[in-house]
Amino acid sequence: MILDRMTTDRSLKLGIILASTRKGRFGETVANWFEEVAREDYRFETELIDLLDYSLPWNMSKDMDSDLSLFSEKIGSSDVFVVITPEYNHGYPAYLKLAIDSLQEEWKAKPLGFVSYGGSSGGLRAVEQLRNVFAELRMTTVKDCVSFHWAHARFHNGRPTEEFRYHASAERLLNELYWWGNVLKEARKEFPQSVLRS
Ligand SMILES: Cc1cc2nc3c(=O)[nH]c(=O)nc-3n(C[C@H](O)[C@H](O)[C@H](O)COP(=O)(O)O)c2cc1C
Repeated sequence: MILDRMTTDRSLKLGIILASTRKGRFGETVANWFEEVAREDYRFETELIDLLDYSLPWNMSKDMDSDLSLFSEKIGSSDVFVVITPEYNHGYPAYLKLAIDSLQEEWKAKPLGFVSYGGSSGGLRAVEQLRNVFAELRMTTVKDCVSFHWAHARFHNGRPTEEFRYHASAERLLNELYWWGNVLKEARKEFPQSVLRS
């Protein structure tokens, strides 16, 4: 029963993807805060997947001697994801698109949520575009989202100034991810995925 499994500690592996690779990025501050919140949640085993640590082939070759094989292993072994994304010119970072497109099966039939940040829109335009992209990989993006408008002004000493409010948003996101994470993990085991072939 799924409910029995829901009482198991750290039953889901949560990959937190830090999408900004920009020099001087603010993303690290946001990711570190979110990782700390997620780590406190006994239901998840968390891992920060910083795209800056992976040199992925821009020519999209499947060169497994590159960092692609390590990246594939990290994504493939995660059950659920949170993407920490900024907004650049009403879109999401180019390197994130390369990272997404570099893999396929590793993403499939898994849930994914967002922590976004930016200026007036809080990165939400980037999030809405990413929902379309991840749908093509047969992923489920969850509704709840943590979003920081004018993000730089909303943090002090590495923490959100209105921490209670953002912590509550993060909890809602983690709850939804936990639900979908268990449902889809079970479904991946019990149902043939032939219908999900590209
Ligand atoms: C090239 C560039 C384009 C940007 N475009 C937008 C934008 O369209 N909308 C927005 O709200 N913020 C925009 N910003 C502000 C960023 O969201 C903000 O600087 C954020 O901190 C960037 O994330 P990073 O510091 O982790 O790279 C832009 C920033 C850069 C560098």
